[in-house]
Amino acid sequence: MQFNIAALLGDGVGPEVANEAIRVLEAMGKKFGHSFQFHHGLVGGAAIDAHGVALAEETLKMCRSCDAVLLGAVGGPKWDDPKAKVRPEDGLLALRKELELFANLRPVKVLPILVDSTTLKPEVIKNVDLTVVRELTSGLYFGQPKKQWHDAEGRKAVDTMFYSEQEIERIVRVGFEIALTRRKKLTSVDKANVLESSRLWRQVATEVAADYPDVELEHMLVDACSMRLIQRPAQFDVIVTENTFGDIITDEASMLAGSMGMLPSASLAGIPKGGVSKAFGMYEPIHGSAPSRAGQNIANPIATILSAAMMLRYSFNLANEAQAVDKAVLAVLEEGYRTYDIMEEGKIKVGTREMGELIAERVAK
Ligand code: IPM
Ligand code: MG
Repeated sequence: MQFNIAALLGDGVGPEVANEAIRVLEAMGKKFGHSFQFHHGLVGGAAIDAHGVALAEETLKMCRSCDAVLLGAVGGPKWDDPKAKVRPEDGLLALRKELELFANLRPVKVLPILVDSTTLKPEVIKNVDLTVVRELTSGLYFGQPKKQWHDAEGRKAVDTMFYSEQEIERIVRVGFEIALTRRKKLTSVDKANVLESSRLWRQVATEVAADYPDVELEHMLVDACSMRLIQRPAQFDVIVTENTFGDIITDEASMLAGSMGMLPSASLAGIPKGGVSKAFGMYEPIHGSAPSRAGQNIANPIATILSAAMMLRYSFNLANEAQAVDKAVLAVLEEGYRTYDIMEEGKIKVGTREMGELIAERVAK
């Protein structure tokens, strides 16, 4: 089969890690007889430097004409001025909104082999295998009004947490569908003791549950959830939550796995069913552009490589191929290879390219 992939490598370590994901996809294509066509475009700071905008209209058009988007990372100190008119992050937000990527899947799995590389006690994090389903195109990030102004009293600012029932329903369905393919437990996270949008969220989640009698639904307040994630993270299966809550708890959850360098993500424009979808999607590591690590061939490419595996699974319906990539990653870790962020005594330290090459070799075998 032939697939067209928009490759937006971005800033900082983005190009380095994304190039390794491309290497692995190419090895995979050769082995399984697929052809992946990569179409390059600029996003973030790189696009600001070239075109004055964080995402050019033509780049967006190019993405729409492809089957999926592979994204590196955006941002860096060069574009960080809080007064700047355009920011690298605007490119990311525009991609999410324009491509209607409402469902952000962020799986967090603690590999037994890395259980000692985190700051948490091994007995707390062992068996952690959870997925956060984060709403990605509404809530505080996009609600109107959203502005700063000043009047006689001084400066003021507002952001709006808006949700429609349709927006809540589709993301909650994603949560249920993912739960069906796993341990059948869904935790809907909100702040229903304070926020109206959360009270609607909770009602809609309860209504949708009627269509999924096999999944156990629980509601949890976001502050309690943050605590539980540290206290008893293994109790979670699937968490579904709104945009800002999801942003915060996924950074927290990522630390369970030791390094952000291990965690992939998928942002989908449709509801996956039975563990697959043919939905358009954008795939990126959850870590940022790590400007201080850029250009040194040290960043961990595994998060981006696992994101490419999610692309195979969720946008191309290639579950076996996705599994082969996951397995290759595990094999290389089992052989003792580590990037700096997951390095432990007695292991073999490798750089970004070497890690990519090792995984590509295992995939090709
Ligand atoms: C994320 C990031 C983004 C977000 C930033 C870069 C805009 O933190 O993907 O979690 O807040 O969504
Ligand atoms: Mg974030």
